[in-house]
Amino acid sequence: MESAQIADDLTNTLLTEGQIKDRLAQMARAIERDYDGQDVLLVGVLKGAVMVMADLARSLDRHVEMDWMAISSYGHGTTSSGVVRILKDLDTDISGRHVLVVEDIIDTGLTLSWLIANLRSRGPASVEICALLRKPDAVRMSVDVRYVGFDIPNEFVVGYGLDYGERYRNLRDVATLAPHVYT
Ligand code: IMP
Repeated sequence: MESAQIADDLTNTLLTEGQIKDRLAQMARAIERDYDGQDVLLVGVLKGAVMVMADLARSLDRHVEMDWMAISSYGHGTTSSGVVRILKDLDTDISGRHVLVVEDIIDTGLTLSWLIANLRSRGPASVEICALLRKPDAVRMSVDVRYVGFDIPNEFVVGYGLDYGERYRNLRDVATLAPHVYT
């Protein structure tokens, strides 16, 4: 697909690559301060968090480890049930570790609240969340997100790791999709 065709699929650039980079740098400074003198394990949730993880990790001026989980959420998109299946588990034993979950976007927060409960049951020293984007519905869940990049409106967005039917993840910006893509 050529770039002109991709551009036709997008209506509005919500966040540019530069805005994301600047915000991640601010979040990285806060993380450096908060975890001063502690080991941190960054846990990325595949596949959407790949870009956030890559850029956040490189913004951090300290040692971090990285690990990944892949989960599937049943009923997501229509009625997110919160029933989750692990497709790929961590390689790391997190007991006694400071875990920072790196997420692309929190919509209802159901997936994340399940994930946090699952990670807490493994006996880590701490579990916190870092999410680039948060939608308004997330406030209804009692998920405590320590680091949030941007609060965005309740629109479906793509790019910077976020997909629609596995496409658009490789866009540098975060943008809304044109209605013709859905129909
Ligand atoms: P939640 O359980 O409703 O918070 O779902 C979060 C997951 O839904 C994210 O990790 C994304 O994979 C997906 N998601 C939610 N909103 C969007 C969006 O606007 N664009 C792309 N994916 C989204």
